[in-house]
Amino acid sequence: MLSSKFIDKIVIAVDGYSSCGKSTLAKAIARRIGIKYIDSGAMYRAVTLFFLQNNIDIPQPEEIELLQTNDYNELLNNIFIEFKLNTTTRQSEIYLNDVLVENQIREMIVSENVSHVSAIKEVRMRMVTIQQEYGRLGGIIMDGRDIGTTVFPNAELKIFMTADVNIRAQRRYNEMINKGISISYEQVLNNLQSRDYEDSHRSESPLRMAADAILLDNSNINEEEQVQFVLSLIENLSIEQKVF
Ligand code: DC
Repeated sequence: MLSSKFIDKIVIAVDGYSSCGKSTLAKAIARRIGIKYIDSGAMYRAVTLFFLQNNIDIPQPEEIELLQTNDYNELLNNIFIEFKLNTTTRQSEIYLNDVLVENQIREMIVSENVSHVSAIKEVRMRMVTIQQEYGRLGGIIMDGRDIGTTVFPNAELKIFMTADVNIRAQRRYNEMINKGISISYEQVLNNLQSRDYEDSHRSESPLRMAADAILLDNSNINEEEQVQFVLSLIENLSIEQKVF
């Protein structure tokens, strides 16, 4: 039995490669133990959507090092991101400058540009500050790429997710086809591979497994098995808390 005092304060970081099912797992854990869930990738996607909507130049990876600091600070002052609870679906949804953009941020054009935008230092600094504020009181699970390394280095529990890239691409492809999106398997696979590469090789808080994270390879395990695995880790933490 988990103590509610412990759960109210817990911070759980879920990082890993693209399309590993991080958000599915994080949402399920949030629901089961009654904590907040924040999708940090949605925030980088919303910033990317803003760049695209306003025809702002998106730097290519080879241009990133040449950028002057402060190039983006004024522009970022015009971006207001918020999560609101949809009372019908009970899911939290992302708003960009008061407009619901939950579906738009999942479009391929955003997926193709988000790794470039999220490599910009000022963008990361702004998002990390907001994310840390969300987690200030605890009772949160957040998924992303740098949550256990940069955003919440002192998180009580850190999970690092991975899975075979072909399995990930097939899952994402099926999901998109079921939503009626016209796309080829190769397009999905290429996007995952290039994002994984860029996210792991950028200079600003690249995707890395934190030294104290627990690896979860879900290539061959189903959603409920993953949830049970994480719940048992939380249960053990809670026992340790009571002992010491
Ligand atoms: O979780 P996602 O696939 O929706 O994230 C989209 C992109 O955002 C991902 O390719 C890299 C970036 N991202 C990031 O740089 N740091 C995070 N904490 C979360 C996402």
